[in-house]
Amino acid sequence: MSQPSYPTTRLRRTRQFGWSRNLVREHELTVTDLIWPVFVKTGQSEKTPVDSMPGVFRWSIDLLVDQVQQAADLGIPAIALFPETDPAKKTDDAREAVNPNNLICQAVRILKQEVPEMGIICDVALDPYTSHGHDGLCVDGYVVNDQSLEVLAQQALVQAEAGCDVIAPSDMMDGRVGFIRKALDAAGFENTMIMSYAAKYASGFYGPFRDAIGSTGNLAGGSKKTYQMDSGNTDEALREVELDLAEGADMVMIKPGMPYLDIIHRIKSTFGAPTFAYQVSGEYAMLCGAFEKGWLDRDQVLMESLLAFRRAGCDGVLTYFAMEAARLLRSV
Ligand code: PBG
Repeated sequence: MSQPSYPTTRLRRTRQFGWSRNLVREHELTVTDLIWPVFVKTGQSEKTPVDSMPGVFRWSIDLLVDQVQQAADLGIPAIALFPETDPAKKTDDAREAVNPNNLICQAVRILKQEVPEMGIICDVALDPYTSHGHDGLCVDGYVVNDQSLEVLAQQALVQAEAGCDVIAPSDMMDGRVGFIRKALDAAGFENTMIMSYAAKYASGFYGPFRDAIGSTGNLAGGSKKTYQMDSGNTDEALREVELDLAEGADMVMIKPGMPYLDIIHRIKSTFGAPTFAYQVSGEYAMLCGAFEKGWLDRDQVLMESLLAFRRAGCDGVLTYFAMEAARLLRSV
């Protein structure tokens, strides 16, 4: 790009006024870019706080309906559901994951009936249901790939049957997108979408989430490094995305978000597919910690953190700030 130099060009000219800054802004965040991750619990009229995520709660289904209605009224297009499973229902083989009447399936059925306009995304991974806290089945301490695929596909099926719109495999097993796509198609769910957690890193930023779904203790210091990606890799993220798209993913996700903006940018510019980021629990906790201390301005910084995803190339972002951001967008 060639442009005359100073003093003919003065980039500060367009920054003088609010209206001219608005006019030349390249990227914008709107409410339709927001996906709200929510935690579901058993019981009636129950709402428990997640200690490491100030302002985030686990909701029983009856209370969740009202929350989701509020999200819909604000214009949020979709939610992502995560269950806090009763520890008594956690087993080595994750059989609760494939129970058509599990907490997630119940929530999907009721939400689809009560707030039909809201898109529902369900996670496919076994960690909320396994006694060992891993996303797949464990044999001799190793998370086995191909045996896990069978259970994951079954989990996707019960969720699709319950009325879930988007299946989001977050397990990082090889071949799972294709395996799930085939299973969905064979059962007549050819219109059920897949948003794959395509580039999901073995990150320390998931800590508070594991607390929220009650899987921290289960993992017992174990790591997910044999299936989630190594933080040092970039090319491998492109290979993951390429495979997932070839296997039938409609949308891809990068996770965590803010520490991986380079990955988002490269994936969007390489494939041009619908691309999403997950601003994960640890990012949320970190920001809230600084907000609570008064070290960062809450409204400004949370909006800036979300706009960064749009600038990096995301079509949308999963964020625990979704409701708050939607309200802020409304007020301007
Ligand atoms: C489960 C899953 C995790 C998250 C989303 N789905 C945790 C993990 O992989 O251990 C993390 C989300 C967050 O930290 O907000 N497979």
